[in-house]
Amino acid sequence: MALSIRPINPKRDDFVAEVTGLDIAAGVSKAVAEEIEDAINRYAVLVFPEQRVNDDQQYVFSTHFGPMETATGDIAAQGDRRLSMDINDISNLDKNGQVLQRDDRRRLFGLGNMLWHTDSSFKATPAKFSLLSARTIPGEGGNTEFADMRAAWDDLDPKTQADLMPLVAEHSQLYSRGLLGFDQFTDEERAKWAPVPQRMVRRHPGSGRLSVFLASHAGTIQGWPIPEARMFIRDLTEHATQREYTYAHRWRQYDLVMWDNRAVMHRARRYDHTQPRDMHRTTVADCAPTLEQPL
Ligand SMILES: [Fe+2]
Repeated sequence: MALSIRPINPKRDDFVAEVTGLDIAAGVSKAVAEEIEDAINRYAVLVFPEQRVNDDQQYVFSTHFGPMETATGDIAAQGDRRLSMDINDISNLDKNGQVLQRDDRRRLFGLGNMLWHTDSSFKATPAKFSLLSARTIPGEGGNTEFADMRAAWDDLDPKTQADLMPLVAEHSQLYSRGLLGFDQFTDEERAKWAPVPQRMVRRHPGSGRLSVFLASHAGTIQGWPIPEARMFIRDLTEHATQREYTYAHRWRQYDLVMWDNRAVMHRARRYDHTQPRDMHRTTVADCAPTLEQPL
């Protein structure tokens, strides 16, 4: 099987590629992993169709790309978890495999995934890559959309670029969930998810490209009045998620999609909440907090 990597986004040929000619479950060589990392540096989102992986195989594949995160961003209490702490549970299922009730706290918290975000920007060291495997998908809906933060940066006017360059935002899951009116946090969760600083502009170490670093977790900008900061973040998000910068992935069972959180935002879309949707995510951590990375 020869590895094949080809762009599939009709709007931009440097954003989203499909990768075939490998069997992730069987394991990949270091050389193949390096080709994949080169490709994600260029395309930011990679789609691997028909990868029937279990959690262990997905995890082993992910370890080629850096240190792994644990699922400390999930809300379910330890005894309540369906999956191991190595796997982020992006499903609407309880630990017995039953669909969560409409008003279940875990489900309501999970709706935050429908806001544009980057994974784990609420952690001091945010996520580098996310790898999401579609085990069970609903009949319709439930797409994942991606927005290219490099293109969004390139198209900003020079004045806004200059304004943004030194800015540092504060990110927390308390902010993103607050946007939806969800505030049922325990004291332990409030402490765990205290805001962390993140640069608003990043330089990608693989491509050298600059990007806007945004997420619905961003609740303020250091040194700014909160309403002004939130208005600016909202304006930037509106700019960065215009149709021309986005790609909608329509899931097929056994798709595995890998994206670069340093270069894109993403969001889930609505689906029938009475149908099971079971997605398993492994997450590769970045090398350091964004403020410690060269701009
Ligand atoms: Fe996400």
